[in-house]
Amino acid sequence: MKRLLLLIFFLNIVVSTSATQPFTNLPSTPDAHETIKHLTETRNKLAAESERWHQQRETSLKQLEDQLTILSQQKDRGTIGEAEYQQQKATIEAKIVTTREEIKRAMRTGEKIDDVILHVFGTGWDTLINGQQEQERRKTLVAQAAVTQDIKNEGELARLRMMLEPENLTKVVTYGTLGAAGVVGVYYLWKLFYRYLEINWLEKAPALVHETSFQGRYADFKEYVLALFNITPPPPPSFDEEIIFEPKLEEKLKTIVTSAKILHERGLPIPSMLLYGPPGTGKTWYAKLLAKASGLRYALTSADRFSQFEEGKDVQAVHDLFDWAEQCKEGIVLFFDEIDALGAHRDKLSERWIRLLNAFLARTGTNVPNIVIVVATNRIQALDPAFLNRFPQKINIPLPGPKERERLFALYLKKYIINEKRTIMRNNQEVALQLTIAPDVTDAIITQAANRTNGLSGRQIEQMLNEMRKRCYLTDNLQLTKAIFTDVVEQMVTQEQHF
Ligand SMILES: Nc1ncnc2c1ncn2[C@@H]1O[C@H](COP(=O)(O)OP(=O)(O)OP(=O)(O)O)[C@@H](O)[C@H]1O
Ligand SMILES: [Mg+2]
Repeated sequence: MKRLLLLIFFLNIVVSTSATQPFTNLPSTPDAHETIKHLTETRNKLAAESERWHQQRETSLKQLEDQLTILSQQKDRGTIGEAEYQQQKATIEAKIVTTREEIKRAMRTGEKIDDVILHVFGTGWDTLINGQQEQERRKTLVAQAAVTQDIKNEGELARLRMMLEPENLTKVVTYGTLGAAGVVGVYYLWKLFYRYLEINWLEKAPALVHETSFQGRYADFKEYVLALFNITPPPPPSFDEEIIFEPKLEEKLKTIVTSAKILHERGLPIPSMLLYGPPGTGKTWYAKLLAKASGLRYALTSADRFSQFEEGKDVQAVHDLFDWAEQCKEGIVLFFDEIDALGAHRDKLSERWIRLLNAFLARTGTNVPNIVIVVATNRIQALDPAFLNRFPQKINIPLPGPKERERLFALYLKKYIINEKRTIMRNNQEVALQLTIAPDVTDAIITQAANRTNGLSGRQIEQMLNEMRKRCYLTDNLQLTKAIFTDVVEQMVTQEQHF
C-alpha cells in the first residue's frame, strides 16, 4: 500500500509538471523594451538639439530687432540719411522674415519627426503592454492549472483516504485480491491449456519416454476417422501367440492381463508390479503386451535415462512424466526398466538419486486409477526393501526351460521364416520372395536345438532366428536348411560359452 501511495504521488508530480510546462517558458518582450529605450534617447537628443537651434535663432532675431532699433535712433539723430535708413531697414527686415520662416519650418519638421517618433514609440508601448498582458494571462492560466492539479491531487488523496477507511478497506482488499487472482488465474489457465495442447495435440511425450503407444488425442482422432471409413485398427495381440513362459507363470501372467482389463473397465486401479529376472526373458515385452491386451496405452522409460538431465531438472522430469501419464484417459502402463538404478539401497545412492527416488515414491504412493506402474530389474537383490514394499506383485521371470525354448524356436520360426514374405523390384517387375523350410529341419532338430541352448534367453533365440532369416536371403533358393539352422545355433551356443 505504501508503495502504491508513493507511486500515486509520483505520478501526480509528473502530471502536474507536464500540465504547467507550456506556461513556464513564456517568451519575454525585450524587443519592445529596447525600442522604447532607444526611441526615448533619440527623442531626447533631438529635442535638446532643436532647443539649442531655436535658442540660436531666437538670439539672431533679437539681435536683428535691436539692429532695427539702433537704425531708427540713428535716423532720428540724423546720423544716417533717409535713403540709407530705408535700405538698411529693408535688409534687416528681410533677414528677420527669413529667420522666422526658418524657425517655422524647423518647428514643422520637428513636429513631423516627433510624430514619427511618437508613432514608433506608441507601437513599442503597445507591444510591451500586449506582452505584459499576455504574460499576465499566461500566469493566470498557470495558476489555474496548478489549482486544478491541487484539486485533483486532493481528490485522489480523498479517494485514497476513503479507500483506506476500515469499511471500504475490506472491499478494496477483496476486489484487489480477486483482480490479482483473476490475472494469475488467466495466466495459469493459459499455461494449462497450452500444456493440454502440447500433450494431446502436439504429441509431445516427455523426454524420459523412449517408446510409447500414447500419441495424444491425435491418435484417437485418427482412429475415429479410420472407423468412419470402416477401417478398423488391428486387433490387440493374442497373449498366447506372442509370449512364451513356463505354464504356471504363463497362467499367472495371463490372469494379471484379464484382471487388469476388467479393473480398468470398471475404473479401478491396477496394482503396480515388479518384474525381475535375467536379461532378455520378456519383461519389457510382457509389459507392452499387458497394455495392448488390456486396452491400455504404454510408455517405456529406463531409470538410467534420468542421468541425462542436469541435476534439479531430473526431478522435474519425473513429475513431467507422471503429469503427462495422468492425461491419458484410456489408462497407461508406465514401465520403468533398469529400476535398480533408482531403487537401490539408499546408503548406496547419492543425494541426487535419493531426491529422484523420493520424487518417484511420492508420485507412485497414491494409486492413480489410470496409471499402472510396472518396473523391471535384473538385480532384485540390489533393491532397497522399502522400495520393494511399494510393489504388491513381484514376479520372477526366469530364463526359459527346454520346453519353453522349443516353443520359442517354433514361435520365431513362424514369425521370421514361414510368415516371411517380401516383394522386391527386379527388371521393373514386382517379384514376391518367400522363404521356405527344408524337410531336413525336423521337429527332432528343433528339440535338439532347444536342449543345446540351455541358459539362453528368449531374446537370444529370437536373435538366432533373425540370423537364420538373413542367411536364407543369401541363398539362391531362399530356404532354411538343417545346415544353416544348426550352424547358427552352434555359433550362438559357442559364443555364449565365452561369457
Ligand atoms: N518369454 C518370451 N516370449 C517371447 N518372446 C520373448 C520372450 N522373452 C524375450 N522375448 C523376445 O526378446 C525380446 C526382448 O525381450 P525383453 O526386452 O522383453 O526382455 P527383458 O526381460 O525386458 O530384458 P532386459 O532385462 O534386458 O530389459 C522381446 O521383444 C521378444 O521378442
Ligand atoms: Mg527390458
